[in-house]
Amino acid sequence: MKTVESIIELRSVLNQFRAQGLTIGFVPTMGNLHHGHLSLVDEAKQQADIVVASIFINPMQFGVNEDIDNYPRTLEKDKEKLVAAGVEILFTPTPDIIYPKGLDKQTFVEVPGLSSSYCGESRKGHFRGVTTIVCKLFNLVQPDIACFGLKDYQQVQMIQTMVDDLSMPIKIIPVATKREDSGLAMSSRNTYLSDAEKAQATALYKTLQWVKSRLAENQEFEKIELIARSKIDAAGMRTDYIDICNAETLEPASAGDSNLVVLAAAHCGKARLIDNIQVSLS
Ligand code: PAF
Repeated sequence: MKTVESIIELRSVLNQFRAQGLTIGFVPTMGNLHHGHLSLVDEAKQQADIVVASIFINPMQFGVNEDIDNYPRTLEKDKEKLVAAGVEILFTPTPDIIYPKGLDKQTFVEVPGLSSSYCGESRKGHFRGVTTIVCKLFNLVQPDIACFGLKDYQQVQMIQTMVDDLSMPIKIIPVATKREDSGLAMSSRNTYLSDAEKAQATALYKTLQWVKSRLAENQEFEKIELIARSKIDAAGMRTDYIDICNAETLEPASAGDSNLVVLAAAHCGKARLIDNIQVSLS
């Protein structure tokens, strides 16, 4: 695996692959890699000839009260995992390379509407940061396909919307969430949890499964959401939101919608965890 930090080197290496007619798959990450990330690499390897991964802890997607300095940095271990997974190129730019004029003067990309609901409501500016960096990385790597984990369901929807709206010639591949045996969705943020908190945090997915089973019986959305919230809180977490939505538009679900997704976020100890479950009503 070749690790490159500069944009000039990245472009020159990628041009050589492109000149050979090879297709490029891309897996953007913020590092602290786990099996979820590696499943994105596996998928990219199946869909493209060459896989490029990036590790960049993107300051633009962290809020003022979110601790970017303490975000886990595990570059050497991450590199070993990416080599074992068969990644050809790792791009590890610094903030100065990505945002040379500073964040305040950086042009941004924002998907209207979707960027200010659910996680966007609790984390103001977060999705602007995500779509801006993903757009910029897409312009640098120019991949044929790019893989994103479905744990961040709203993020995948926003990136697909950006790609459609801006006519980017990139196929977005959503990849199923990887879970611990307990059901807890794998996340870089799980490293903030003690063993006791990890046990508490299983309530998030258990509650989502409970919501799915209730939806099979009736569609009293608001009532189900209220009970779900109390279940998460009763397990010792603090619910941020749990909302039953139309899986395509992410609007609150309405009677007659058959393709649903239940989106949830909750605080557990120092971590803010997100998860979701898709529900198809026949
Ligand atoms: O999902 C993530 O890890 C990040 O939001 C992403 C897509 C790498 C952009 O920084």
